[in-house]
Amino acid sequence: MNKMRTMSGSSQRSTEIRPFQVMAILAEAQALQAQGHDIIHLEVGEPDFPTPEPMIEAAVTALRAGHTGYTPALGLPALREKLAEYYETRFGVTLNPARIVLTPGASGALLLLTAARLNPGDQLMLADPGYPCNRHFARVFEAHGQLVPSGPEYKYQLTPQHLRDNWQPTTKAALVASPANPTGTVLSLGELDALAQEARAHNGELWVDEIYQGLNYADKPETVLSVADDAVVLNSFSKFFGMTGWRLGWAVVQEADVPVMDTLAQNLFLAPPTPAQHAALAAFTPEVMTILEERRQILAERRDYLLQALPELGFEVPVAPEGAFYVYADASRLTSDSLSFCSRILRETGVAVTPGVDFGDYRAGEHIRFAFTTGLPRLKEAMGRLKDWLETQRLEGDGR
Ligand SMILES: Cc1ncc(COP(=O)(O)O)c(C=O)c1O
Repeated sequence: MNKMRTMSGSSQRSTEIRPFQVMAILAEAQALQAQGHDIIHLEVGEPDFPTPEPMIEAAVTALRAGHTGYTPALGLPALREKLAEYYETRFGVTLNPARIVLTPGASGALLLLTAARLNPGDQLMLADPGYPCNRHFARVFEAHGQLVPSGPEYKYQLTPQHLRDNWQPTTKAALVASPANPTGTVLSLGELDALAQEARAHNGELWVDEIYQGLNYADKPETVLSVADDAVVLNSFSKFFGMTGWRLGWAVVQEADVPVMDTLAQNLFLAPPTPAQHAALAAFTPEVMTILEERRQILAERRDYLLQALPELGFEVPVAPEGAFYVYADASRLTSDSLSFCSRILRETGVAVTPGVDFGDYRAGEHIRFAFTTGLPRLKEAMGRLKDWLETQRLEGDGR
């Protein structure tokens, strides 16, 4: 009998990949909506703004002009050059465009990278809480996510000390995200530099997921490439540029690693999506940058509101998010079972939020992620409903 197969025929690896709880919450929210309930979505991890109009126009024009075929596997040379220029003008980093690999989303970049770098049995060090797909990508290639619990005292991030204490002969790389999902915390250039040095000391690699770059509320956005040219970068047009559905991201790797990324890209998906690349070519104009800056300011306003409103309800926010569009709230005064808590909140108030259990194990039952991807009036309405609901919970508790 083939040991890699389960009774149902699914591969062992596929059965070890956990589904997103948030998808179950989303499905339930949609079902309630279909029954006529007014649902406020604070669970969704994508901007509520459409792709800026000039980018849509550029894609439509390109499609009409017949650009409907494959591009090179590494992406359009013109877009790789535009991205290199963006690194130069925005971050002061000089980059050979040949090092930029365009992919179907940052997810595609992570797929290529895990395929290119991880051997069976290798470990990829990750902070818990963190973006859950990372460890699953490792698993697909018979490697493992090495989860290191990290609390608010470390901004829920990996530190050089974490790397020192946990690095093993099988650890190949540490992956951090800045700004991070689900916490929105940001690593400074000094912190990134120290992490890169520590990874090097173990002959390992530092991978930095910069997918939320540009959505920064405290300091200006940065890239690890300013301090560590040997770090691997993952990024995407999904979040800051408002292009989740177009599926376009990129990786920055060493020149020597480009041929293997090229071969893998050719085999795994032939090329990144062509219309998306034409839209992205129009992303770096002053006009689009102005639109994106206005949106960033709107998100900042929502963030400030939640940071004031959530503690009034009994949620603690020990580390304010400095980026992305999430608040990772400590709900330990209210629950130790975030999954059923979120499920009850949805059913009893119509507010959809994501339980901490989606992002790891460490104190996950006590945390909830609020995405501020909904306009301020709806955020206020959501907080009002939660306030009333928590009040009834307290009264019921007192009456018992
Ligand atoms: C931290 C992080 N990395 C990567 C991704 C993947 O995004 P995409 O494939 O749309 O670029 C996401 C999506 O939510 C994310 O939150």
